[in-house]
Amino acid sequence: MNRNRITRKKVVVAVEDLQMVYRVGKVEVPALRGVDFTVQEGEFVAVMGPSGCGKSTLLHLVGGLLRPTAGRVLIDGIDISSVSDVKRTEVRRLKMGFVFQSYNLLSTLTAKDNIELAKQIQGPGHHEEGSALEILQLLGLKEKMGHTPSELSGGEQQRVAIARAVISRPSILLADEPTGSLDSDNSRMVLDMLQGLNEMYGQTIVIITHDAEAALTADRTIEMRDGRILNRGKNVLYAMEEKHS
Ligand SMILES: Nc1ncnc2c1ncn2[C@@H]1O[C@H](COP(=O)(O)OP(=O)(O)OP(=O)(O)O)[C@@H](O)[C@H]1O
Ligand SMILES: [Mg+2]
Repeated sequence: MNRNRITRKKVVVAVEDLQMVYRVGKVEVPALRGVDFTVQEGEFVAVMGPSGCGKSTLLHLVGGLLRPTAGRVLIDGIDISSVSDVKRTEVRRLKMGFVFQSYNLLSTLTAKDNIELAKQIQGPGHHEEGSALEILQLLGLKEKMGHTPSELSGGEQQRVAIARAVISRPSILLADEPTGSLDSDNSRMVLDMLQGLNEMYGQTIVIITHDAEAALTADRTIEMRDGRILNRGKNVLYAMEEKHS
C-alpha cells in the first residue's frame, strides 16, 4: 500500500443526499433513497450490495452520466448534477474514466481502435498516457487487438473496456463490476493493474463488485442495501493518521 496517501486528504468525490427515482410509464422506481459519502484523492473504494440495490445508478450519477432526482455530486468541488451538459461532459472528459457493466464498446471498431479513440477523445496532455499496445499486452490481449467486439469473448470485451477507461490515466476511475466476466486469473490480473495504477499514479478508483477478492484489494468497502448505504467502511490508512494527529 502507498503510505504517501496518508498525507493527502483532498476530497475528490462528494455525494450529498443523492436520490434517484426512475419513471417507467406511470410507475416510479426509487433506486437511491438519500446517499451520502466522500472519496478522498488516491483512495481505492469498492461498492458492494445485492442486485438491484442501486450500485450502477450511483456510479452513473457520480460519473455524470445521469442527473439525480435530488441531491448533489461534487467532483473536485464542481457540482456536476447542476452544471450545463457541456460543462458536465468536460469534467468527465478531463477527469474521469468509466468502465460500463455492459462494456459499451463501439461494435465496428477493433479492440485497438476502441482504445485509441478513447485516448484521442481525452486529448493531449491529459496525464502521462499509456500506449494501446502496451495495455493490450498487459491484459493478455495483444493477439486480439484486430478483433471487433463481436469477435471477442465477454471477458475479452471486458478487458478492452478496462483498457479504454485507463489509457489516459484519468484522475478518477469508475468501474462497474470490472471483473464480473473474468475467471480468477484474469480477475487477479485486472485487480493488480488497478492497484498498480492507484499506487503509481495516485488515481482515485471506485469499483462496484460482488467479488470478495476485489473488495479486499480496495482500501475501503461501501455496503449498499435497497438504495441506501449500510456501511461506509473505514480506510485503515486514514484511520491511522487520525489516531496519531
Ligand atoms: N433505466 C431504468 N429505468 C427504470 N428502472 C431502472 C433503470 N435502471 C435501473 N432501474 C432500477 O433501479 C434499481 C437499481 O438498479 P441498479 O442498476 O442501480 O442496481 P445494481 O445494484 O447495479 O444491480 P446489479 O448488481 O444487478 O447490477 C433497480 O430496481 C432497477 O430495476
Ligand atoms: Mg449494476
